[in-house]
Amino acid sequence: MEFQNLLIANKGRVQQITINRESKLNALNKDTLAELHSAFTEAFQNPEVGGIIITGAGPKAFVAGADISEFAALNIEGGAQLSRTGHSAVFDLIANGSKPVIAAVNGFALGGGLELAMACHIRIASDNAKMGLPEVTLGLIPGYGGTQRLTQLVGKGKAMEMILTADMITAGDALQYGLVTHVVNPEELLTKAEEILNKILSRAPLALAAAIRSINAAYTDGINGYETEITEFGKCFGTKDFKEGVAAFMEKRKAEFKGE
Ligand code: COA
Repeated sequence: MEFQNLLIANKGRVQQITINRESKLNALNKDTLAELHSAFTEAFQNPEVGGIIITGAGPKAFVAGADISEFAALNIEGGAQLSRTGHSAVFDLIANGSKPVIAAVNGFALGGGLELAMACHIRIASDNAKMGLPEVTLGLIPGYGGTQRLTQLVGKGKAMEMILTADMITAGDALQYGLVTHVVNPEELLTKAEEILNKILSRAPLALAAAIRSINAAYTDGINGYETEITEFGKCFGTKDFKEGVAAFMEKRKAEFKGE
């Protein structure tokens, strides 16, 4: 598939998606969001892709937010529609994806950019990264899941302070808050993301998907996460990968998982 605003590169079972609007600090306009929907849908369906790394083009930004120039014409209904479509087409699509997605945050991750990183399953950052949800400076609030996912990741007090002050935090702060799990030099960022993802991809694929569903259930209204875990745990026993994993352990060899 050809994209105007994304670069796609495959290395083994790792697919790297790079948001490529460097002159606008990779801001998410409608076209880029539509392309992200297509790219992630395709990556989740493609059996040759095991997991995805998402990053931003250039040395300065992961994503500096939703494209503010597209906001001016919106009214109440248009704003709500933009938010609702974004949630389902991109942010929830990634969060509920059956394959692991790592955000490699290589600079500014602001507004919709931080929301995109937070929709991913794991976030790592370069030491020059800056993160924040500055929407209240525009008379808005985060609209792509930020009020919910930031609260889940860092707790209510820190989320309140970050969203109400609109302040950016450093990569070091983000590490301390648990918003990212590793901070490295910019040159090492993608290598580190690949290292983590390749380790994950050596594990049983159906178990990874079951783990993502079960962890997400902890934060899904109306669902008992413990019940989800019980069901998903049970289903794992019906997979060939489970039989292979146990056999490999008993035979003291490396498991060869097929995702079946
Ligand atoms: N939407 C649209 N365009 C954006 C953008 C966004 N969220 N963020 C940056 N850009 C554009 C700028 O308008 C500028 O375009 P131009 O060269 O055509 O004028 C270009 O990207 C470079 O940005 P600039 O502001 O010149 O870079 P900077 O280094 O001075 O500042 C930031 C960097 C990130 C602090 C600043 O761009 C900024 O505050 N961006 C908006 C962040 C934001 O509020 N995001 C939340 C949106 S809901």
